[in-house]
Amino acid sequence: MHSEWILNQIEALRIKKKINLLDFASGNGRNCIPLLNKNIIVTAIDKDQKKLDKYKNLNNINTICFDLETTEEWPLVNQFYDVIIVVNYLYRPKIKKLISLIKNDGYLFYETFSLGNEKYGSPQNPNYLLKDAELLDIFGEKLLPLSFYDGKIKGKYISVKQMASFKKASLKRRLINKTKV
Ligand SMILES: C[S@@+](CC[C@H](N)C(=O)[O-])C[C@H]1O[C@@H](n2cnc3c(N)ncnc32)[C@H](O)[C@@H]1O
Repeated sequence: MHSEWILNQIEALRIKKKINLLDFASGNGRNCIPLLNKNIIVTAIDKDQKKLDKYKNLNNINTICFDLETTEEWPLVNQFYDVIIVVNYLYRPKIKKLISLIKNDGYLFYETFSLGNEKYGSPQNPNYLLKDAELLDIFGEKLLPLSFYDGKIKGKYISVKQMASFKKASLKRRLINKTKV
């Protein structure tokens, strides 16, 4: 089952022209496959070729098998995306590099587990659990935060997650937003 939150965010964009969407650590494609349509061209990257094999032949999708955590440069460098989605993946040492892959006026939708989740299930390793408001700390300086949630999610099981959406807006807009009371 896909992330409802991600699908709702993309639907709310009311996309009417062709856009490039990156699904970062896409797994079996449960989030990007439902998004495929004539206006959404997907790049899905993951280190697991077996998972990518299941959907690499679909129309409008380009899969890349790559280990995002090595010192090797990402094959995405010099590619720019209108929308990036990340669900249930966190690798802090390189995460800020996502910012440079977003086109101006593009969006980042990020959903993953946060501290507190260890009480309910996995992941329990703090390397994979966001700290208090961490998505805002990581991306909020360079991107304009549009929405933020940190708390329990009731699905099949309870989990604790952060869900944050950002826009790569001009510096002026980001500053105006910061000074709002
Ligand atoms: C929990 S799954 C989430 C997959 C997908 N985003 C979803 O929500 O269904 C985490 C994914 O990250 C991928 N992954 C883990 N470490 C990775 C790495 N070093 N490089 C690329 N992908 C990685 C795994 O192969 C797996 O598909």
